[in-house]
Amino acid sequence: LTNKLWGGRFSGSTDPIMEMLNSSIACDQRMSEVDIQGSMAYAKALEKAGILTKTELEKILSGLEKISEEWSKGVFVVKQSDEDIHTANERRLKELIGDIAGKLHTGRSRNDQVVTDLKLLLKSSISVISTHLLQLIKTLVERAAIEIDVIMPGYTHLQKALPIRWSQFLLSHAVALIRDSERLGEVKKRMNVLHLLGQGADFKLELDFACISLNSMDAISERDFVVELLSVATLLMIHLSKLAEDLIIFSTAEFGFVTLSDAYSTGSSLMPQKKNPDSLELIRSKAGRVFGRLAAVLMVLKGLPSTYNKDLQEDKEAVFDVVDTLTAVLQVATGVISTLQINKENMEKALTPELLTTDLALYLVRKGMPFRQAHAASGKAVHLAETKGIAINKLTLEDLKSISPLFASDVSQVFNIVNSVEQYTAVGGTAKSSVTAQIEQLRELLKKQ
Ligand code: ARG
Repeated sequence: LTNKLWGGRFSGSTDPIMEMLNSSIACDQRMSEVDIQGSMAYAKALEKAGILTKTELEKILSGLEKISEEWSKGVFVVKQSDEDIHTANERRLKELIGDIAGKLHTGRSRNDQVVTDLKLLLKSSISVISTHLLQLIKTLVERAAIEIDVIMPGYTHLQKALPIRWSQFLLSHAVALIRDSERLGEVKKRMNVLHLLGQGADFKLELDFACISLNSMDAISERDFVVELLSVATLLMIHLSKLAEDLIIFSTAEFGFVTLSDAYSTGSSLMPQKKNPDSLELIRSKAGRVFGRLAAVLMVLKGLPSTYNKDLQEDKEAVFDVVDTLTAVLQVATGVISTLQINKENMEKALTPELLTTDLALYLVRKGMPFRQAHAASGKAVHLAETKGIAINKLTLEDLKSISPLFASDVSQVFNIVNSVEQYTAVGGTAKSSVTAQIEQLRELLKKQ
């Protein structure tokens, strides 16, 4: 018991199940390196403040270096009594250099260490996630550039709406993901605040933080940076889940627009013909998992009093799980997009004439009819074609003239898919020029991330 960091005032021992519940080392040992980094910077600050002599500082630093080596070689032995990574490193330091190790804790608690460590680790985790995210966006954008001439139906309510370029679909997802990338950058910027006050500019520089917290009570207990990261991660995952769901639908035999590569599909143990889009289903499901982690942390924070409470230990499992999930999911999504095959014939086959009904209305608008009336007239044409049991483009000019005298022989030009996508030349539209402009803008934005 006396070997516990806080054992001085205790005479009884901890219940073993309580000990298990209390221990966070299994999860937080991934902060071993940043914990040592933080301790090294702190020891230097203590020496400057006159609390450590030069020799003591050297001893502490070489001890910490040795521990860092042990972690990186995988030979650090975690003991059952090590509650968390901070305790484990401190215990080991004492074993290596003796009682001087105890001086390192002057004016610093594990509550301080945990915030510094977590911020240091998450800053680099965000960089890794951002790199994978940018790779995914780039993959979408470059694919859109290559396949710009492919046209397919666009859907609302999952019902055929208007013809679109396949690239317009890919870019719609890239644009959402660029916003996520910007949000990640903002979270990282706000995370870049050293919570240890009063340690001076050197300490901040040593650990590469941009500034220092304004208030100690806020600094020790705020987990805004965890909540922000989890929120941004949740929104990102929701975007990925939408992309996944679209592609799952497009990969069914009924649509047959895309075929996933074998690398991202699995088979059925019963039905030999099956090729299941498991990669996409997993991406979709991980969105639920990530949101669950966000909800868990918010619930832990709700109702906590000021400063540190042990409840805060719970945040790490959540945020590390989300970091790992995103790292895997983003790479799989990039793999899916870069290897999937598109089936142009099936897309073309699906471009049925009713997709041009809006164009028929726009034709009448160009002839001077107000849009609402034109919409009704075009709707009547749909109805007439239905009652005749033919496609809308098979109505004769006489049929159309019976609906409106404004229809003339040039109406035949309406029933042309390429003309249809080419008429939307405004910013963000489906015309080749608009899609090309989107691609160029996204390429520029990617350079700035
Ligand atoms: N492992 C703990 C955490 O993650 C460290 C803080 C423990 N502090 C304390 N005063 N009991 O939050």
